[in-house]
Amino acid sequence: MAIYDPNPTHLWNRLHSVIFVRSDLPSTSRVPDSLDPPLWFNTKYLLAQPSHDRVIRVLDEFLQTHGERLIRDPVKRAMLQRDLWSLFDWSVVREPERVGEPAYGKGEQELQSRLVEVMRRVALTPEEIRALPSNYEQAVASGQFAKEYDPAHPDRPFLPPDLFDSYSTWVGIYGRGPTSDPVAVSHAYAFSRSNFSIYLRLPAGRKATFEYLRSLWDFPQSWIPVPDDPRHEQTMENPALPQFPAGTEVALVRQMLLVDTQGNLESPPITESIQIRVYRSVNALDRSNGETASSLAEAIKSSGQDFYQIRLSRPQLFANRAGGLRATERDEREFSMFNSFGPDEGSPAQFISLDQYQPVLQSCFVCHHRPGIDSVNSRGRLLKPNWLQHDYPAPEKPIPNAPWSYEDTNWKQNRYDWGLLSGYWKAAGSH
Ligand code: HEC
Repeated sequence: MAIYDPNPTHLWNRLHSVIFVRSDLPSTSRVPDSLDPPLWFNTKYLLAQPSHDRVIRVLDEFLQTHGERLIRDPVKRAMLQRDLWSLFDWSVVREPERVGEPAYGKGEQELQSRLVEVMRRVALTPEEIRALPSNYEQAVASGQFAKEYDPAHPDRPFLPPDLFDSYSTWVGIYGRGPTSDPVAVSHAYAFSRSNFSIYLRLPAGRKATFEYLRSLWDFPQSWIPVPDDPRHEQTMENPALPQFPAGTEVALVRQMLLVDTQGNLESPPITESIQIRVYRSVNALDRSNGETASSLAEAIKSSGQDFYQIRLSRPQLFANRAGGLRATERDEREFSMFNSFGPDEGSPAQFISLDQYQPVLQSCFVCHHRPGIDSVNSRGRLLKPNWLQHDYPAPEKPIPNAPWSYEDTNWKQNRYDWGLLSGYWKAAGSH
């Protein structure tokens, strides 16, 4: 594999592949450039032998030979740090659940201390992080992407040039009161090393989008009891919420976080992925969630939506092509890492081969199948008692979108995995 250097046996390439290509899951070699390593909640790979020794050996080689000196390119260093960080967090997050076992096994500790030391050595200074280019802007400037949805060519991916503008037609949805969770809370938990933001765009523009948000917030009975809940405790969003018009679009953006040379959390201007859903229609023909549709393709069609994903590709990013962003193709498959079971879960094991997964762009339907607003999974954020989105940053007008990465880093900083990482970081820096 030649991700960091044309030579496949380059130390950085070997470090990448020991994490992303699993010898016990051969089809991981078909997707070595995935955004997240193929490690699920119950995975033992890299903690159990023989893969544990393998990863430790490569990390030790990196540390002993000062592998950090081999590559100076700040974008590559940022990427390697990000990837090692996801391995670190995975090794932490699964731990407290293992009842009856020591809090940290030797395997985890050996891995964690080395990962953090390599992360520290490839860290960028705050100035270097600030100087990183905005890859989203590069992608837009490259002219590689259409600028908007075209109903005549729904298979054609697009990248909205104005997504991050202050007065964009895409209205940013913000999760944060002083104490609340990030807006895309499930994603934030699953990938806590990234910042997520959500945008909504009604076809009639920014003002109409705010008016719609107000109508949701003013809706008298936004929450109803969950039907058939025997204990009458749970509530859900009312399925009769005001509907938005056909032509509405929603976007979920994932951006990179990094740790700088001082051990502080930073938000570089690097976009990792953009997922977009466009509503051709909000009156799905089939309200039974596609159950009566004769095929998945038919059910997807009846959802009234078109699905898109544009994501970071390391080789393309390093070659400075279109900001490293590329559209996921219609039939492309990935190991599913978000709220999903993987090959290490369940018995008998499932999803051992990539071919057992649905194409990514069909899988969107599984979690977003209802018509219109009912398929907006974060819609609870737009209802009382959450705040009216109109209110950011102050009730004065006009109301700009928040600056880049408004979903700030406090949330991550309050997490246990961050505390543990900081502890290792300080210990590593002190000798
Ligand atoms: C395993 C379930 C799941 C899959 C698969 C999934 N999503 Fe989502 N998506 C969610 C959840 C849950 C949220 C709400 C935000 C949160 O809590 O993180 C969300 C949020 C979004 C949002 C922001 C608006 C909203 O609905 O809240 C967009 C846009 C989006 N997803 C697009 C996609 C696209 C495109 C795909 C396929 C490439 C996809 N999603 C696949 C679960 C999923």
